[in-house]
Amino acid sequence: MTKIIDGKAISQAIKDEVKDTVDALKKDGKEIALAVIQVGDDPASAVYVNNKKKACAYVGIRSISYELPEVTTEEELLKLINDLNNDPSCNGILVQLPLPSHIREDVIIKAIHPSKDVDGFHPENVGAMLIGQPGFLSCTPAGIIQLLKRSDISIEGKECVVIGRSNIVGKPMAALLLRENGTVTVCHSRTKNLKEVCRRADILIVAIGKPKMIGPEYIKEGAVVIDVGIHRMENKKLCGDVDYDAVFSRCSAITPVPGGVGPMTIAMLMYNCVLSGKDNPNR
Ligand code: GUN
Repeated sequence: MTKIIDGKAISQAIKDEVKDTVDALKKDGKEIALAVIQVGDDPASAVYVNNKKKACAYVGIRSISYELPEVTTEEELLKLINDLNNDPSCNGILVQLPLPSHIREDVIIKAIHPSKDVDGFHPENVGAMLIGQPGFLSCTPAGIIQLLKRSDISIEGKECVVIGRSNIVGKPMAALLLRENGTVTVCHSRTKNLKEVCRRADILIVAIGKPKMIGPEYIKEGAVVIDVGIHRMENKKLCGDVDYDAVFSRCSAITPVPGGVGPMTIAMLMYNCVLSGKDNPNR
């Protein structure tokens, strides 16, 4: 029997835990606030940003919204980030990516003070994660670790294969699996024999960005499959990087799309915001 890993239910449980902590902090007179910055009007980003603001409202975090025009300069954005860095009433700063091409993402990420970097993208937080020190963890990979742990899937000693090496998902995912004592392989576009490598995986994490690319020929019988991809098909339905129906019966557990990894990213963002207001790892 294949277990469907219910990201909706697990993310709801995390949001409810966060809500309890936020309520307790409020009783001590502490309010948590997150600045959410979007530059331009990319429709996908607008949906993500809106969902983040909704989650803030649910858990009781104040969201401060900045919807900046596409023509915003890098200098203007840096000025806003600097003001928010120095504003003690703002606990977290989130700049939605991607940014317009005239703004350098790495410059913006580095400008956010590490103690307010609730996305966990600042090099200081990435470095801290790699060497096992306290800091903010990148939300999607941290959410995947929670999905596994809360589904009683152990990572220790398992063959973990990550497809994708982005700074947001693949690389931090590999580091977190290693931290949980998994044996980790990272695959990418130049990997030779991708199918054979994937077929070694007890836990396969797929973040390639290609709809339904991973079929049953990539899956070891009984593997756990985590699908990070999300794509809108021509028939308007959503699908992941994994061909869910085709691989389902080969897996011991799998995340659906939607309702798997997606909602976990926002739940972990809420978790990071609370960490930021409570016992900030960087302060
Ligand atoms: N764009 C896609 N995913 C993310 C994310 O987790 N955080 C931010 N800030 N932008 C993104």
